[in-house]
Amino acid sequence: MDLGLRIDKAMTAAISQAQGTSEPAGTVPGRLAAALNYAVTPGGARIRPTICLSVARACGDDAPDLADRAAVALEMIHCASLVHDDLPCFDDASFRRGKPTLHLAFSEPLAVLAGDSLIIAAFEALAAAGPHHATRALLLLQLLGRHTGMPHGICAGQGWESEAQVDLRAYHRSKTAALFVAATQMGAVAAGHEAQPWAELGARIGEAFQVADDLRDALYDAQTLGKPTGQDKAHSRPSAVEELGVDGAIRRLKDCLGGAIASIPSCPGEAGLAQMVRLYADRMTPSLPAKA
Ligand code: IPE
Ligand code: IPE
Ligand code: MG
Ligand code: MG
Repeated sequence: MDLGLRIDKAMTAAISQAQGTSEPAGTVPGRLAAALNYAVTPGGARIRPTICLSVARACGDDAPDLADRAAVALEMIHCASLVHDDLPCFDDASFRRGKPTLHLAFSEPLAVLAGDSLIIAAFEALAAAGPHHATRALLLLQLLGRHTGMPHGICAGQGWESEAQVDLRAYHRSKTAALFVAATQMGAVAAGHEAQPWAELGARIGEAFQVADDLRDALYDAQTLGKPTGQDKAHSRPSAVEELGVDGAIRRLKDCLGGAIASIPSCPGEAGLAQMVRLYADRMTPSLPAKA
């Protein structure tokens, strides 16, 4: 099955479970259920679940249901992080993926609760695989927790924005690269392979991804991206462009991606995976300059 279809099907099942669609009518809060759907559809690029499933396939994909659960868990955490990131207390963004942000379309309480619910649903999706894949499911839960919370996950990354002095690489690694490390490692673990050899590939793609996002924020227009631009400057956020300049940021991006293919661990589908990484590397490198 095409990876995009596989992700859509697994996302629909996971969200419907989180919404309680099998519960008796009138027993779940309908607006929060609708907000969950709003947060995940239409999706963005779905890059994290795609990487997760691509690694699982390269490693033999001997437990596809578990790999699907890992992929949707990652995407639910990612979507939750965006809902929270857009709130007035963080980036105060008015649109995302070309439509009003969730707190504007629904309300701030529902945005907080939708984000919280998606995070919890992600862990539940993995825990539900426990009876069939106890050892792998436990490892997946640990990996997802490590790359979502403190001290090195998304929470830590967002936490850097409340510090007076920020280490740009630590900030990028935790707010963004952590979930890419989770994506490569969870894809491998879901297919019965070890996590550690897959950390470097995820870290390299993830760090490059945030540098590319910083470049787009500085150089592109909002209509092209479907989200506000110029935000790093407006909120005085540390960014690769601010610290390194445009050329320096592009060099950093290329450095990160340059070692990505060589870091792919030996596995049955190594060649196909290298092709996918090459494709992402090309897409990530921004064409200059869209707005200058
Ligand atoms: C946006 O991530 C947030 C960052 C970490 C830069 P994506 O660019 O993957 O967002 P969607 O899911 O495609 O909208
Ligand atoms: C988002 O970082 C990373 C998250 C953990 C949500 P940004 O704030 O730079 O991402 P965008 O530009 O809003 O998507
Ligand atoms: Mg932010
Ligand atoms: Mg933001």
